[in-house]
Amino acid sequence: MKLPSNFYKPLAIGAPEPYRELPVATERMIHFFPGHNEKVRAKIGETIPLVDVLLGNLEDAIPADAKEAARRGFIEVAKSHDFGSTGLWTRINPLNSPWVLDDITEIVGEVGDKVDVIMLPKVEGPWDIHYLDQLLAQLEARHNVKKPILIHAILETAQGVKNVDEIAAASPRMHGMSLGPADLAASRGMKTTRVGGGHPFYGVLEDPKEDGSTRTFVQQDLWHYTVAKMVDACLSNGIRPFYGPFGDIQDLAACEVQFRNAFLMGCVGAWSLHPNQIAVAKRVFSPDVKEVLFAKRILEAMPDGRGVAMIDGKMQDDATWKQAKVIVDLARKVALKDPELGQAYGF
Ligand code: GLV
Ligand code: MG
Repeated sequence: MKLPSNFYKPLAIGAPEPYRELPVATERMIHFFPGHNEKVRAKIGETIPLVDVLLGNLEDAIPADAKEAARRGFIEVAKSHDFGSTGLWTRINPLNSPWVLDDITEIVGEVGDKVDVIMLPKVEGPWDIHYLDQLLAQLEARHNVKKPILIHAILETAQGVKNVDEIAAASPRMHGMSLGPADLAASRGMKTTRVGGGHPFYGVLEDPKEDGSTRTFVQQDLWHYTVAKMVDACLSNGIRPFYGPFGDIQDLAACEVQFRNAFLMGCVGAWSLHPNQIAVAKRVFSPDVKEVLFAKRILEAMPDGRGVAMIDGKMQDDATWKQAKVIVDLARKVALKDPELGQAYGF
């Protein structure tokens, strides 16, 4: 085991000091773009202010013969825009692929100072994080990168889910993780062809009725267990959990429900694969105005966070004060990015 005293030391001489706490950022949606698509690149300047995070995808959905063009396109976008408060991420190819070494070396070498987070797919265990951690430190040192590039793991293999706690704790470079329901379904042998969301056959049936009338079948959430496991692993290690992709681009109502379940369970954002999903994620991952106003009343009623109070007939104590603080802290963060919402929250 690595000595605790070495945990926060840079892994290469000349690499930047790892963060002790994640930088504050609003990351309600991670918006994917294919870097090899010229039309998308031409409009990227309009997309940047609409999203919290812009991610250049190099992995799945990019054809093998477009891998280099996607990487070059991402680098061009990174060089030619100012991102303001929008995060710039990339999803590189998996560690066992023929493209990943060039993905990492070219991107850190050319735009290492602009990239905030590298998303690593198909993470199986802490060893994958350790490899990327070391390599990034060497490249940061070589290219004089000033701030550490963070790592975001995709939780999308059965083994990764088994090792999720160790992955979350693997390095101070860990930013968070996203549920990858498509690869995870395949890896686990789940019987679905969907990318996230429910399945019409997965649910519970009401007990038989005495009068023999039709029993109601209610669909259940296939992802509940994994999201809960991921949230606990992330929050107990001070990093951020995200729901990943929702593949049915037409079904915005189902996308919204999936995103909201993740939000309520502790996730801070989700992926947007299509411009239509940006507004959904923004709505879902910004705390509800009524909830924020109520949470503010709880904080005001117990200024030092202790004791007991009744508000609208509901008991409040030290624990509900902490719940209220989660919501108000998030609202403050969102308000920095979204002044209109800030006004509605009364800041
Ligand atoms: C995302 O990468 C997924 O596999 O769902
Ligand atoms: Mg995947």
